[in-house]
Amino acid sequence: MCGIFGIVVEQEQPLGEILVQAGKRLSYRGYDSVGCATLHEDGSIDLRKDVGKVDEVAERLRFFEMTGRRGMVQLRWATFGTPSQVNAQPHFDSDGDLVGAHNGNVVNNVELRQQFIAQGMTVRSTNDGESCVHAVERYVDQGYDMVGAIRRACHDLEGDYAFVIGRVGEDRLYALKKGSGLVVGLGEGSSCVSSDLPSILPFTRRILRVQDGEIVVLWADRVELRRVEDGGVIEREVETVAESMEVAEKGGYPHFMLKEIHEQPGVVRELLNLFEASAHVAPMVERMAKARHLYLVGCGTSYHACMLGSVYMARLAGRAAIPILAPQFIAQYGPALGEDDVGLFVSQSGETKDVLNALEVAQERGTHVLGLVNVLGSTLMNVSECYLPLACGYEISVPATKTFTNQVVAFLYLALRMGGRDTAILARLPGLLEETLDLIEPQAAALEANLADRDDLYCLGYGLTYPIALEGALKLKEVTYAHCEGMLSTEFKHGPLSAVHQGYPVIFVAGPEDVPLIVSGVNETTCRGGWAIAIGEEDDRLRNNAHDLIRLPEAGPLLSPILATLPLQVLSYRLSLARGYDPDFPRNLSKTLTVD
Ligand code: M6R
Repeated sequence: MCGIFGIVVEQEQPLGEILVQAGKRLSYRGYDSVGCATLHEDGSIDLRKDVGKVDEVAERLRFFEMTGRRGMVQLRWATFGTPSQVNAQPHFDSDGDLVGAHNGNVVNNVELRQQFIAQGMTVRSTNDGESCVHAVERYVDQGYDMVGAIRRACHDLEGDYAFVIGRVGEDRLYALKKGSGLVVGLGEGSSCVSSDLPSILPFTRRILRVQDGEIVVLWADRVELRRVEDGGVIEREVETVAESMEVAEKGGYPHFMLKEIHEQPGVVRELLNLFEASAHVAPMVERMAKARHLYLVGCGTSYHACMLGSVYMARLAGRAAIPILAPQFIAQYGPALGEDDVGLFVSQSGETKDVLNALEVAQERGTHVLGLVNVLGSTLMNVSECYLPLACGYEISVPATKTFTNQVVAFLYLALRMGGRDTAILARLPGLLEETLDLIEPQAAALEANLADRDDLYCLGYGLTYPIALEGALKLKEVTYAHCEGMLSTEFKHGPLSAVHQGYPVIFVAGPEDVPLIVSGVNETTCRGGWAIAIGEEDDRLRNNAHDLIRLPEAGPLLSPILATLPLQVLSYRLSLARGYDPDFPRNLSKTLTVD
């Protein structure tokens, strides 16, 4: 999740400090490299960038000395191209007349780079941010003005992204939004543009929210919005924002957990774009397909993703994959591991000690080690033979939400690829997640009052929804401090059914294919006075047998479990607040467990 910030001021002045501070405010999004460019009135551009943290790179490259009338800073989270100085942003065009930086993914980056090279342009990196600059350069060279060139470039650049760009000899910056966030700030004698609000608030509270398909032209004393479609000027009221910096960092949500729940459609979209264009997916699939034994290793939420991944792999690729909790992996399979085996280690943080211990054992036995990890630069990323990023940006709340969803989506994608199947079914997922979030909020609110004081409940699922039931139970436990046990629905009658009494809450997560089996479990509960809450697609059998149905959009058996995660997250969040707790920082827990 890269971040961009650009500023235009009235006269040449020191800009380095401003850019460094803006960069720091963008840093919560996650990044591996940082760069600044300032444009001077004499037509020169000062560009400094490298891999590392803002403070360290700023010190080393002396960002504080940078002056200019226009400046930009970019924090890069590597997707296309490894983290390196040359891939760090901003980027020049061929002649150094344009400089620009982007946020997001240009999915046809490889094809575009080939075109630019064939057209004689100087392409220095493999980063898609550079493609944004060359895409504009191509039309500037044909005689278009900057707005005309950006409009045409927008049609060539596929994917979800935003960029900021400046040209020597001018007094303005330009920005384009197509999928990624972009906000404009109108200050006294300056205007700025950024991926998000926190980096703008120190300058001004007067903002314009840019929409997809819009270009912004920024001067020191005014801004102009134009449509990509026809170049026409857009009139938009300036908004004055009242929110505090803290609320702004939470994207306007009261808690990071809720913000991160609502980020899920966006991060899924980003991950799918990334995988479609990634050169790492094919070798990873090949390595897993050839394994003698394939182990999916993780802890907590990441382990639940492994469990669902295993079901997807068997079902879509006919491949048995063994999901296993990391410490148990050592005890149960350590002595049997061999050089033909593959361990796919899954971790949001990439630093969980239990996972790294298991990985060490695998390496000692010569087993191939692959990674699925969110935090880039983490130990798991560094020691894996090959890794795929989860592309979620920072997940700040202790309860994992968006990273679970992207772990599961990654598994589904890999399973489809391993089975030689079309991944196109995933294209519907971001939209379905948005629809689900709209649908479930009032449904969860309706259940809240009755559930808030329960200290004991069950969450059951079957087949593809079994891991979702475990994950839902973990989330409920983690943030409400109530005891919620997750279980295979068919196991309930083998013992725990004895806990059921009048009004005892049992949540059933029903995949569309498993409704009859789930309905049996529902009836075993209701006939003993229990309160059955079903989560599933609209179905008369669920509606008529359970007391409540949290309805999901129709998505089919493969996608429905992913959607079913959302009501359990939202319910956990609401119940945590109703019980007076802070869902972002539950007691006794830590985001990254670096202890045994
Ligand atoms: O960073 P990891 O994915 O390796 O963390 C593993 C677990 O500690 C983590 O998933 C934990 O269970 C979550 N906080 C649950 O929401």
